[in-house]
Amino acid sequence: MSKVLVTGGTGYIGSHTVVELINEGFEVVIVDNLSNSNIEVLDGIEKITNIRPVFENIDCVDYVAMENFIEKHGGIDAIIHFAASKAVGESVEKPLLYYRNNLVSLINLLQLMPVHKIKHLVFSSSCTVYGQPEELPVTERAPIQPALSPYGNTKQISEEIIRDAIHSNPDCYRSIVLRYFNPIGAHASAEIGELPLGIPNNLLPFVTQTAIGIRKQLQVFGDDYNTPDGSCIRDYIHVVDLAKAHVVAVKRMLESKSKESYEIFNLGTGRGLSVLEIIKTFEQVNQVKVPYKIAGRREGDIEQVWADPTYANEVLGWKAEETVEDTLRSAWNWELNLARRNKN
Ligand code: NAD
Ligand code: WQD
Repeated sequence: MSKVLVTGGTGYIGSHTVVELINEGFEVVIVDNLSNSNIEVLDGIEKITNIRPVFENIDCVDYVAMENFIEKHGGIDAIIHFAASKAVGESVEKPLLYYRNNLVSLINLLQLMPVHKIKHLVFSSSCTVYGQPEELPVTERAPIQPALSPYGNTKQISEEIIRDAIHSNPDCYRSIVLRYFNPIGAHASAEIGELPLGIPNNLLPFVTQTAIGIRKQLQVFGDDYNTPDGSCIRDYIHVVDLAKAHVVAVKRMLESKSKESYEIFNLGTGRGLSVLEIIKTFEQVNQVKVPYKIAGRREGDIEQVWADPTYANEVLGWKAEETVEDTLRSAWNWELNLARRNKN
């Protein structure tokens, strides 16, 4: 049984990936400093899989703690590195915190990997590296644009760090960089999902919290963009589809299915949806109202972006399968389940 270290494994995408890894027979060990997640996520993972993975509350920035963990849980075959700070606005206010957290964590792993004979790394990158692409849908060959935030910059720099580390020591590393579009939704069991702290920045948690009454009204950031209904367009992908791509990526490396030591894949559905379409579909499939008003544009927003996932479909052999309707149902079921939990 192959063993995978998942950093940030109690987070939103990490927890769903842990479930899929366990479903596929991997042994999973998790480190997370719980800076943006909750230890109870492990209960959810256990309820779904009947397995409680090894977990330690460790900061990936702490080299010694990471080294001790890797030594203690020997035989790690691959690392999936989710741990990072991800709030775009906060990164503008606290850039150094973002550079330290996101870059030092990665550098620590890259230093530890050859020492402990761990060759394989899957890295969480983002479609944010493309900025506003000139051509849509966007392929992996599209140029990287200057980052609009320190957060976005950490993803660009991280990709370069990984590439340079591999270049310097090609026998010791293999990495697959996954550029996520907009992950939404939750596991079908509603035992795990997105847990935003405070006021959500992202669209879907704001939609579900407004539908349930935690927020009075959703603001639609702009209806005067050059899109069919004037609101921004994104490629919203079910988090479970995204999670499954990580399992495929790990297997691809462990089974040496490619000669390349560094590969990049877009993870999206290939379909762009506007903010207003998301609201309308959410209301329809869940039979619930989402009070909203049109507000001004949000600074730094990209007008429209969606993926060309052909490369991932053909080369990785992975495809997003969930419908947007099921995805939006799962997001609502998760919010309902959270409300039930908070009552008890
Ligand atoms: P998340 O905040 O839910 O998960 C990240 C986890 O990492 C959290 O549990 C947090 O506590 C942990 N963490 C943060 N810094 C840490 C550190 N120094 N040491 C140990 N643990 C640490 O976020 P997510 O949405 O699951 O995102 C996972 C990854 O995917 C991140 O790298 C993020 O930048 C990237 N990503 C996310 C999105 C998105 O829209 N959610 C899009 C593109 C890329
Ligand atoms: C989606 C759409 C908003 C909230 C961000 C990061 C990006 C990536 C994913 C990690 C936009 C609109 C939102 C609201 C709204 N993260 N919106 N009202 O902007 O695509 O990307 O998260 O890598 O780096 O920048 O996602 O969910 O914030 O917004 O109208 O209250 O919803 O304007 O068009 P975004 P989002």
